[in-house]
Amino acid sequence: MKNPLENLHLTLIIGVVLAVVALLLLHPGDVFSGPWWQFFFRWLHVLAGILWIGLLYYFNFVQIPSMPKIPDEHKPAIGKVIAPNALFWFRWAAAATVLFGAITALANGYLVEALTFQDGVRTIGLGMWLALIMAFNVWFVIWPNQKRALGLVEADADSKKRSARTAMLFSRTNTMLSIPMLYAMIAQQNIGG
Ligand code: HEM
Repeated sequence: MKNPLENLHLTLIIGVVLAVVALLLLHPGDVFSGPWWQFFFRWLHVLAGILWIGLLYYFNFVQIPSMPKIPDEHKPAIGKVIAPNALFWFRWAAAATVLFGAITALANGYLVEALTFQDGVRTIGLGMWLALIMAFNVWFVIWPNQKRALGLVEADADSKKRSARTAMLFSRTNTMLSIPMLYAMIAQQNIGG
């Protein structure tokens, strides 16, 4: 029999089964209660956030600094295979993070209050605005520019070069914003608003 860890889907399914086991052992009486659903969407939110910001850090800590060290004949492996795949998960993880984050805020009863910086939820409001700016950058700046830079849509050499630079600078902007964003995201529960 093949090792299940050789298959990503099976690995993820086993992870979910282990989470269900933890849940049944630790909180059997709470499942499907109101607070449990609040927790559930917060959990999905953090999982999606890790996928999104994990890929953002991969681009900035690993891929971008490594590109100049890769010989030209090997660059297509990144440009044609790895980057498009990473960008697929990157942008959809950003969308899922926003969706589950908005559901979490709604379930907590403060979506509008937080976004308008009202007392008690200012901290999460700041985190949400920073993350919304970052998600906007992903979908409306980084992705269209990367499509040109990677040759997924028609573009001349000059526009490819300019697009690659724009995508890199906005990716850097998001890396910078991720630090105060995560501070605010986590501080709401631990320090307050
Ligand atoms: C527009 C996007 C986002 C929205 C609307 C949003 C919304 C929220 C809300 C409402 C909470 C609950 C805060 C509380 O009551 O303590 C939360 C918590 C959290 N979010 Fe976000 N968030 C967004 C983006 C992100 C991103 C990109 C990450 C990156 C990993 C992230 C990570 C977290 C973490 C770690 C928590 C704390 C969970 C906990 O302590 O239980 N969020 N977010």
